Amino acid sequence: MSLSGRRVVLGVSGGIASYKACTVARRLTEAGAAVDVVLTAGGAQFVGPVTFEALTGRPVLTSLWERDRALAHVHLGHDTDLIVVAPATAHLLARAALGLADDILTAILLAARVPILIAPAMNDHMFAHPATQQNLEILRRRGWTVVGPVVGPLAEGPSDQRGRMVEPEVLFAFVERALRASTSRLRDRCVVITAGPTREPLDAVRVITNPSSGKMGYALAEEAFARGARVLLISGPTMLSPPPGVEIRRVRSTDDLQQAVEDALPGADVLVMAAAPADFRSAAPEPHKRPRREGQITLTLTPTADVLETTVDARPPHCVVVGFALELADGTQRAREKLRLKQLDLIVLNYVNEADAGFEVDTNRVTLITPDGETVLDLMPKRAVAQHILDAVEARV
Ligand code: CTP
Repeated sequence: MSLSGRRVVLGVSGGIASYKACTVARRLTEAGAAVDVVLTAGGAQFVGPVTFEALTGRPVLTSLWERDRALAHVHLGHDTDLIVVAPATAHLLARAALGLADDILTAILLAARVPILIAPAMNDHMFAHPATQQNLEILRRRGWTVVGPVVGPLAEGPSDQRGRMVEPEVLFAFVERALRASTSRLRDRCVVITAGPTREPLDAVRVITNPSSGKMGYALAEEAFARGARVLLISGPTMLSPPPGVEIRRVRSTDDLQQAVEDALPGADVLVMAAAPADFRSAAPEPHKRPRREGQITLTLTPTADVLETTVDARPPHCVVVGFALELADGTQRAREKLRLKQLDLIVLNYVNEADAGFEVDTNRVTLITPDGETVLDLMPKRAVAQHILDAVEARV
């Protein structure tokens, strides 16, 4: 569990988005964090303390005047790793910016000696109001991290202006990053990750591609973001949503991928080539849709560029480069050969013909190979594989 032993105060103020705070409390608890929920009077009107106590397994604070928990505001402001306020209403932001301490949550915020992350949520006009913008600016200058709000439906109906709180999964990603980045060597580093297949046209509608889902690359992007990296995800066509906080550049063909990698490399500290580029393209793609009744086709296929090999010279000298090797059987020798030819620091060997690993599934079974050693890993979720890969990268950064 990635957040074992970590302590989080989750402040909830009075907005309808407090229903999302329930999911955040649950996700943090499942990830191993001890979550102390603190409700304002308005927050408790929307979701009661019993709900949060059931979700976190810990008592919830609602008042400064609980006699058996005197000084709780001071203790919680100090003996915790992070304070999160979600939702943060316009009124809460105003009170915090002024330094008021008229309830348990604002008292904790004033006594705090730990990082603070807030997820504003309110009516779009309230958010756009100069008073709210000024308060947010004050809090940002104090070092608070502000996540959202985003454009989306509000309690009063559809809106094309910002005001809606970010979704729980997005907030969770930022909370995880706030908790984990300080101990990672990838913090503030530029990590470029490629993911998914590429497509090479045969005619106007048909393509050569492969069954890569992009899941391994997307898991790597999520994990790198959680470690505090600036992440650029170069993605071929996939059905996946971009991970929160990650910059995405979409590509189609292997040539597009090569161009995108070339553009990104000068600023990159790490390159992980998890993409499965199409290795062949039609020598003469047809501009029209070829009718089936024309019968059998003979295609001449030519190899596409090898992105890793052709971009060796564009790599900054300190850049740590990771490749993958997809093999049929006994792949260690072939993977070592690719490691050498493509001048990699690490190659991740996996096999094509395993039902629970490789393409399209959520798990993978890999061996990490470096010039001087190898580590065989058991079957595990791709996010856990991503952790092992990035641990190995951190050792080389
Ligand atoms: N790769 C690349 N450009 C390509 C094909 C692959 O940069 N046109 C990268 C992949 O992203 C991966 C590594 O090279 O990180 C190895 O890919 P793999 O498909 O195993 O090997 P190939 O080099 O394509 O060799 P072969 O098809 O002969 O196994």
